Amino acid sequence: MPLPELMTAITIAAPGGPEVMIAAKIPRPEPGPGEVLIRVAAAGVNRPDIMQRKGLYPPPPGASPLLGLEAAGDIVALGPDVTAFRIGARVTALCNGGAYAEYCAVPATQCLPWPEGFDAVKAAALPETFFTVWANLFQAGRLAAGESALIHGGASGIGTTAIQLGHALGASMYATAGSLEKLAACLRLGAVAAIDYKTQDFSAEIARLTKEAGVDVILDMVGASYIARDIRALARGGRLVLIAFQSGSKVEAFDFLPVMTKRLTITGSTMRPRARAEKGAIAAELKEKAWPLLSSGRVAPVIFATFPLAEAAAAHRLMEDGRHIGKIVLVL
Ligand SMILES: NC(=O)c1ccc[n+]([C@@H]2O[C@H](COP(=O)([O-])OP(=O)(O)OC[C@H]3O[C@@H](n4cnc5c(N)ncnc54)[C@H](OP(=O)(O)O)[C@@H]3O)[C@@H](O)[C@H]2O)c1
Repeated sequence: MPLPELMTAITIAAPGGPEVMIAAKIPRPEPGPGEVLIRVAAAGVNRPDIMQRKGLYPPPPGASPLLGLEAAGDIVALGPDVTAFRIGARVTALCNGGAYAEYCAVPATQCLPWPEGFDAVKAAALPETFFTVWANLFQAGRLAAGESALIHGGASGIGTTAIQLGHALGASMYATAGSLEKLAACLRLGAVAAIDYKTQDFSAEIARLTKEAGVDVILDMVGASYIARDIRALARGGRLVLIAFQSGSKVEAFDFLPVMTKRLTITGSTMRPRARAEKGAIAAELKEKAWPLLSSGRVAPVIFATFPLAEAAAAHRLMEDGRHIGKIVLVL
């Protein structure tokens, strides 16, 4: 059957609150060279979507202006030069945008098969957090078996993935979170300790828990107000990886002396503007090292809630409310 020329997608009338997201009929994308067209069955919601909706995270040049960084579904068309997938294959993809829609064109190299036993909702909950955690915790942060890591926002989509992957790959995982439910979730997912950052100083707790040794890697999505304490909580040779600045990106009167005396590395990155080849290389490592853990059930996405695509505004409100643990997913 020929594909429809128009599709339903969530469009943004003008930057603003959740109410600016409106379902509309727009032209269906065509897959370009090296791309596949996915008929989307489910799409994950991520914090960067909220920033984009507010006009604070514009899509990089050439990317779809639509919201949505991850989608699962079946391939319905192949662009020129695609040999790795066939029509009908069930994939989940890291999208450069455009997943809040019935159809989404994505580079074939950013697609991965659904892990064994997965449905579309679980598959759609994977790409954004797995690519981000792999690139930052394991590649930039070089977390290795036998080492330790502190994950801020342990109950977030990113955090629930980071705790499970680190634990499954042999690291001792610590996490921070802001409620009893979230702390309990971090422990269930494999953290050796979960720290309530609202009532405890996490750097003092890490010193106590590690007998003053500190942790080898910190994955930080909070930024400014955490950085001095991150530096204190790192072990000699430790790595601080910054992936978001929810409390701001500027610090004043910061003392860099421990960076030298403890031989620390401070780094960070964003996923969306990375080149296609770079994302493809991360996908290949995930397929080899993380996908078997998903297929065997050792690691599993934490799904907090699902919403129909047309109720994307309600999904954003839930995420902004901040009570969720793990992922929120849109279904089509
Ligand atoms: N750099 C990249 O490539 C990249 C890619 C994807 C996502 N990200 C970033 O990673 C973060 C997590 O994304 P997500 O989709 O997993 O979002 P999410 O599920 O909404 O998680 C956000 C988490 O941040 C915590 N938080 C918020 N403000 C905080 C504060 N002031 N102090 C301490 N914790 C705070 C919340 O935990 P509590 O309720 O416990 O406070 C919440 O669990 C976002 O900031 C996102 O922008 C970065």
